[in-house]
Amino acid sequence: MLLSISFAFAADREAVTVNATMALMKQGMNLVEDGFFYNDKAQIMKGIDIVENANNIFSTIDVRSFINQKNVSVQVVNNLTGHIGDELKVMKKSIASGEYSEASKEYSKILNNCISCHIVIRKW
Ligand code: HEC
Repeated sequence: MLLSISFAFAADREAVTVNATMALMKQGMNLVEDGFFYNDKAQIMKGIDIVENANNIFSTIDVRSFINQKNVSVQVVNNLTGHIGDELKVMKKSIASGEYSEASKEYSKILNNCISCHIVIRKW
């Protein structure tokens, strides 16, 4: 709670943007997962597109604007978002060629990157 209050004061507009973007990240990931569970290729692709568009925010917003802990490495956070971008590309290719097991491995990596950043950001 304290974190989100000081965060909101530090960068109110960025906070709104980041939360809206993260809601999209989650929506996209949920779609992808449903797509896997129901063997729905189109839904997986739609989910990937949503996560990809949301992840692009990190190229326009300075990651430092939403990190208010001095001991959090910007490089670590930047690397995480970079990995997500790369993994989404690999996943797209795997889905397109029907390699669903490979695609689901990339999905796990992306999920791990989401959680890793939250662990860093929220000191969880
Ligand atoms: C570079 C760091 C980073 C990455 C990577 C990241 N997030 Fe977040 N996420 C944040 C920040 C910062 C917040 C806002 C502060 C908070 O909730 O602690 C947030 C908040 C959220 C929230 C809560 C939003 C709200 O309205 O309270 C969700 C849901 C979420 N992220 C989902 C995801 C998903 C899904 C992914 C992976 C596809 C992801 N995030 C990847 C940094 C990240």
